[in-house]
Amino acid sequence: MPNLFSTYRVKDVELRNRIAIPPMCQYQAEDGFTNDWHQVHYPALARGGAGLVIVEATAVAPEGRITPACTGLWSDAQAEGMQRIAASIKRSGAVPGIQIAHAGRKASANRPWEGDDHIPADDPRGWQPIGPSAIAYGEHLPRVPREMTLEDIERVKADFVAAAKRARDAGFEWLELHFAHGYLAQSFFSVHANRRTDEYGGDAKGRGRFLLETLAAVREVWPEKLPLTIRFGVIEYDGRDEETLAEAIDLVKGFREGGTDLVSVSLGFNTPAAQIPWGPAFLAPIAERVRREAELPVATAWGVGEPHVADKTVRDEQLDLVMVGRAHLANPHWSYQAALALDVERPSWVLPASYAHWLERYR
Ligand SMILES: Cc1cc2nc3c(=O)[nH]c(=O)nc-3n(C[C@H](O)[C@H](O)[C@H](O)COP(=O)(O)O)c2cc1C
Repeated sequence: MPNLFSTYRVKDVELRNRIAIPPMCQYQAEDGFTNDWHQVHYPALARGGAGLVIVEATAVAPEGRITPACTGLWSDAQAEGMQRIAASIKRSGAVPGIQIAHAGRKASANRPWEGDDHIPADDPRGWQPIGPSAIAYGEHLPRVPREMTLEDIERVKADFVAAAKRARDAGFEWLELHFAHGYLAQSFFSVHANRRTDEYGGDAKGRGRFLLETLAAVREVWPEKLPLTIRFGVIEYDGRDEETLAEAIDLVKGFREGGTDLVSVSLGFNTPAAQIPWGPAFLAPIAERVRREAELPVATAWGVGEPHVADKTVRDEQLDLVMVGRAHLANPHWSYQAALALDVERPSWVLPASYAHWLERYR
């Protein structure tokens, strides 16, 4: 029976344990470029002992950034900083991953601590968001996106492919496509955002088309031997959850057939009216259902950051990988602390030798 500290192999990549740090935007970039902040932040996380560190939602195009301070991979010049980040994560013993993303109708917003709301249309810091239909998210994100043409759809798919190639060439070994949280791909799948009457809208098949086509295009360029994964919101908590889940699980089967190695099960975030039942590991049973019905390995985040809870989700075979986010911001050495809390034999083996050698003797 696996536990939190069992190794985990996907294709040619082996994680030293089942702990992953999910993508967490830092909102510290300029023009999509990483800087000293990212060069310090990511290796610090990797040194703490997690098996996988996934770099934040990185935009495939300028208009796909959530805020003006989000990272990007739409140019070769941006890949240089990312290459150093990937190398330093790897040097600390974690697998370097990255999430590539397009924010869709939620783009052009202020940073969370500066309002989290859409930048006004007449403010030169912002830009015109795009989406499947001209429907705004609402509340703090009131801007109505421009409905994407078929040319826009082709362009954004090509942007995903170009960013995936840059991530590959920069040395990332784990790619996550951001198909969650109400951003562009997720919004194509959502009845809250997609009212198209062409082949990219309508029934679940039509609403899933953009996601499957993007996956297929990326699959062509992402190496067969490296994990290709998707973060996908399978539930909205908007009162039509059973229907959404059934449609989502069908689409996850399509992801599997399209060459996806793991799905990070998450939330739709397509409507401000959602009533989300926050609580410890509340998505784990949903993830387990996706795992069982779609027959694909799964991860999930959202309140799994207590060591015993995290360990149990792996032992109970609900999750293959545990995503621990905010607890790592509070303590980048969460994995080491979890190993101590769970009485793992030689807990410091999760750390790089420069730390482990000393901590093993002075526990
Ligand atoms: C600061 C911050 C930034 C985030 N940025 C992203 C992101 O870039 N992509 C993403 O899919 N989720 C993002 N999330 C969601 C996290 O990946 C994770 O799902 C969330 O923090 C819940 O897990 P936790 O309870 O372990 O923190 C972010 C969360 C935080 C706190």
